[in-house]
Amino acid sequence: MKSKKVAKDRVGAALVGCGGIAKSQHLPNLARAPNLQLLAVCDVDERAARAAQAAYAVPRMTTRFEEILADPEIDLVVVATKEDAQVELTCRALEAGKHVYVEKPLATTPEDCRKVVQAQGRHHRLVQVGFNRRFAPACREARRILAPRGGPTNIHFRISDEYWSWGRAYPPGVRVIQEACHVFDLLRWLADSEVASVYCASARPDDEIYALKFTSGCVATVMCTGEVTLDLPKERIELVTRRPGALIIEEYVELRTYGCPDEPPVFRFPGHTHPDSEATHKYLFEQLGAEALAAFRKARWQLRNQEEAGELNPHDAELRRFLEQRFPHTNYLVDKGWRAALGHLADCILGRAAFEGPGPRDALAANLLAHAAMRSRETGEVVRL
Ligand SMILES: NC(=O)c1ccc[n+]([C@@H]2O[C@H](COP(=O)([O-])OP(=O)(O)OC[C@H]3O[C@@H](n4cnc5c(N)ncnc54)[C@H](O)[C@@H]3O)[C@@H](O)[C@H]2O)c1
Repeated sequence: MKSKKVAKDRVGAALVGCGGIAKSQHLPNLARAPNLQLLAVCDVDERAARAAQAAYAVPRMTTRFEEILADPEIDLVVVATKEDAQVELTCRALEAGKHVYVEKPLATTPEDCRKVVQAQGRHHRLVQVGFNRRFAPACREARRILAPRGGPTNIHFRISDEYWSWGRAYPPGVRVIQEACHVFDLLRWLADSEVASVYCASARPDDEIYALKFTSGCVATVMCTGEVTLDLPKERIELVTRRPGALIIEEYVELRTYGCPDEPPVFRFPGHTHPDSEATHKYLFEQLGAEALAAFRKARWQLRNQEEAGELNPHDAELRRFLEQRFPHTNYLVDKGWRAALGHLADCILGRAAFEGPGPRDALAANLLAHAAMRSRETGEVVRL
């Protein structure tokens, strides 16, 4: 897709939707990216927009999206509302000549995803979807190692969370659309192939597996569960390579190689941090990898359980407060590529890089796969795509 090249050093950006992901990722990342300038924030909730403006000294705030569209200094609109509004806002921004970064899932239906594919075709602007894991340093390193080994032939991906403890954000059974979409996109990218068929075996809502076959011949299983506990690292990927060997990625902080004598046996990656957060974990993960992350998760989990049981002594209460206030939310401790994803799009707008996606067609592919998995769940049959 052609980009409207911007003749300056930094891309003028606006953030629309100042909620959870904006506060934990987009605001701090936009505010400190060398190739971006956060000029405006917008939210239908004025308090949310004002709080974001104050926290990051953003020049302008508004509750009216039209003001963002009319602002000639804004080249990029970052849309992080919810999937019910993201398609409409993205299409309107494209129509106004803006480039767009839009959160996942782009939409819940293939029909709505196609609206963005078509709008992009009409308006010739860049659209990047928030499948940020493609930009995680651990995943980029894995893809580099996979290429000369003929790519992966067999993958197992576990993505897990503890929905039961913090209340479900979504009706039961749609984790496949909301969360597995990240996995489906990453697997298509790592396998460098489209998915040919999917089979879903469901133990209970949001606790199931998907068996995928790719057109390349690669096969994958995805264990997707919202029913575990916080002390279990959230994501683990195991990949068998076509030439004998294997890789394991432990929640984006550690990549281990097997049968790859030309590569180090272990790569460790710094955690992700935030200007307002303690950075200690970042360097611990770089030094100690998965072990440090597991210890961090376990400490937080145990302290929370003790507090809930009324068994927290004053020393541990102090430690719990310190960990909760000073460090990022547990699922945001590691670098899943959020900052690099935005930086990549800005570089493309500035004409410094060629767009590598993921775009709306990738969002459509992930969404079609999620719906096929849900059909398989209902029928018990393999569904071909
Ligand atoms: N990539 C990731 O790692 C990741 C992580 C979490 C959430 N997400 C995605 O980010 C999106 C936002 O999630 P969240 O948890 O931040 O939601 P949230 O509900 O915390 O925040 C959404 C914000 O958008 C505002 N909003 C809603 N409609 C709007 C509109 N039409 N115009 C302007 N503002 C509007 C709301 O008032 C709210 O402040 C979702 O699509 C979610 O799936 C992505």
